[in-house]
Amino acid sequence: MKKLEGKVAIVTGGASGIGLGAVQRLAEDGAAVAVADVNAEGAQQVADEINKNGGKAIAITVDVAKEEEVKAMIDKTVEAFGRLDILHNNAAWGPMNDKGIPEMDVDMWDAVMGINLRGPMMGCKYAIPEMRKVGGGSIINTASANGKVGDYERTAYSASKAGLMSLTRSVATQHGKEGIRCNTVLPGLIVTPATRRKFSTELMELMEEGNLTPYVGGPEDIAALVSFLASEESRYITGQEINCDGGVLVRAGAGAIMKYVRDKENN
Ligand SMILES: NC(=O)c1ccc[n+]([C@@H]2O[C@H](COP(=O)([O-])OP(=O)(O)OC[C@H]3O[C@@H](n4cnc5c(N)ncnc54)[C@H](O)[C@@H]3O)[C@@H](O)[C@H]2O)c1
Repeated sequence: MKKLEGKVAIVTGGASGIGLGAVQRLAEDGAAVAVADVNAEGAQQVADEINKNGGKAIAITVDVAKEEEVKAMIDKTVEAFGRLDILHNNAAWGPMNDKGIPEMDVDMWDAVMGINLRGPMMGCKYAIPEMRKVGGGSIINTASANGKVGDYERTAYSASKAGLMSLTRSVATQHGKEGIRCNTVLPGLIVTPATRRKFSTELMELMEEGNLTPYVGGPEDIAALVSFLASEESRYITGQEINCDGGVLVRAGAGAIMKYVRDKENN
């Protein structure tokens, strides 16, 4: 029997990058998966591919910043598969104009918080009652190494990801006795359509140099951690922040490396 046979999962931002990797891995592990994304066509393509390969998936169009759509995402999943065991809050926005504080576009700040922090909170709000009905569940929030450090820019993004770690601890504390675990995964640089859009090959190489590993990770590296956290193998782990970043944050001078990279990017 597969590790997640009989379990039902939702992955937000499941049409691309890290979310896509998680969808594929959870489906391989036997879970029925709701591919939830603002990109309706992309989500449908991913779900079709899973079903073609013998898995079970549905596509759900959702903007995680909108409460009624988040509620509908949970309802549609339970309607389709009968229960909910796993929620991977992964969709996020990292706008290019997210720089320093004096020049902060406050509407942009609110929009980042709406997607990256309020979205996952609303996911938890509507998922927890469903998880209670089945005696527990696992919620996995995708933050970022940026949520743990100060940076020269990405102010709103970093604050949203730090907030997400606090949300994780609240959910873990308030619902642990109900069998609901909640953990944060913190990717470092992961090669996805988003990072390919934002960084040149030269910058990727510089960032690779900043890692302790001889390579940069892919969505499959985060997916392996998500699969572990979704399963009973991790039953004693809750409220935690787990870095999956090639060790970049423990390296002395990592901040200086990032500044050099960003300065090159901006010039
Ligand atoms: N790639 C990295 O290096 C990296 C590093 C650290 C953290 N992260 C985090 O990993 C997650 C995924 O990033 P990625 O690199 O795979 O990005 P990506 O752009 O490849 O995928 C993001 C997906 O989220 C969807 N999405 C965006 N806004 C949404 C919304 N409001 N509602 C629903 N869906 C929405 C997009 O349509 C897309 O399919 C994000 O939380 C990001 O902050 C990524």
